[in-house]
Amino acid sequence: MADHDLDAAARDILHGNDRGGYTIPTSGLYPFQWNWDSAFAAWGFASFDGDRAWTELETLFSAQWATGMVPHIVFHRPDDGYFPGPDVWATGTAPPSSGISQPPVAAIMARLIHERAGGTDRLRALYPKLLAWHRWWRQSRCPTGVACVTHPWESGRDNCPDWDPGMANVDTSQVGTYQRRDTGHVDASMRPGKLDYDRYVAMVQFGRACGWDQEAILREGPFLMGDPAITFILIRANRDLAAIADLLGEDGSEPLAWADDLEAALPWLWNETLQAYCARDLRNGAFAETISSGAALGLLAGVENAAMEAKIAAMWDKVRFGMPSNDPGAPSFDARRYWRGPSWPVVNALIAVGLASAGRHEEEKRLRRETAQLIREGGFYEYFDPLDGTPCGGDRFTWTAAIWLAWANREDA
Ligand code: SER
Repeated sequence: MADHDLDAAARDILHGNDRGGYTIPTSGLYPFQWNWDSAFAAWGFASFDGDRAWTELETLFSAQWATGMVPHIVFHRPDDGYFPGPDVWATGTAPPSSGISQPPVAAIMARLIHERAGGTDRLRALYPKLLAWHRWWRQSRCPTGVACVTHPWESGRDNCPDWDPGMANVDTSQVGTYQRRDTGHVDASMRPGKLDYDRYVAMVQFGRACGWDQEAILREGPFLMGDPAITFILIRANRDLAAIADLLGEDGSEPLAWADDLEAALPWLWNETLQAYCARDLRNGAFAETISSGAALGLLAGVENAAMEAKIAAMWDKVRFGMPSNDPGAPSFDARRYWRGPSWPVVNALIAVGLASAGRHEEEKRLRRETAQLIREGGFYEYFDPLDGTPCGGDRFTWTAAIWLAWANREDA
């Protein structure tokens, strides 16, 4: 397919997944509004419809909790095709939502959307909501400095090996029976396993039992791990929020200070053995035993660390198509299983945003070329085998279409 036909196909996917003010990631597998998916969708919309781009973010933030948290799933309308649905989460919110958050990329995307499509009034209205969400991260997810996740789903990188140490300690004895829906939509070999799901469900049951009391979840929840990816994303997002504040004539010193504090806390995630920033369990101090896309997102934050950069470069050189989500040399590497190896266009795009800001244009171009090739040859799938480019997961995927439109299709690719 020629690139202009791919542009049309990508727009068609965004329109096809539009449910009126928000897009679903893909029909069947993910039938609701997902937090970071929507932020990327908005960036994609900005390439041809600025108004629709802002609407996507506004609809997402219409589900913001009084605490400032923006939930990871918003269940605008019922759909039986997904587990766990709103009755399992039982958060009691309107609209119904999950009880955890997801990577805070919205401020990064809002800044890019404004650069591309304007909309200062829309940005001005969104700004206090973004600030409140970032404040929530600071108050509710940074107990020791770095950003933590209380559930692997909160990280957006569900089954990546980063979470293996914390997952090993989750008690599943009281979980009971439930029916997964994801493996009815895509090949089970590309999805998390049964034990992973039992543990995911145990964590949801804990949150529900304590009424989603975030302090109780931090204090006694079954899982709490420091996440390098969200820490890096939040560093960048806080700095972008400060830039947005400047543009609006607001005082951006608060998010700027949050970014500096996160950066100062990074040594806690430094794994001396692997010479990289790695996920780390807050309950027992254990490090993840692999270098993942979490470390690679240091490039988004512009964090300088020569030793780690060498590791990331080596990891990238081991594959043909973009940044793998796990080091291909690690025993846990699995080229097609969700976050345990595949290349994800959205993560590649985030890394590219950082590379472009740092003036590292050759690396940015390489990442763009490799990502574009995946999409040209494989279509708009959710993720791809980084070794041979095999498309994996859901098809007609919103965020892959969005990344094509916003970044991967640019002329010098
Ligand atoms: N990605 C999760 C799932 O697979 C939820 O965020 O359902």
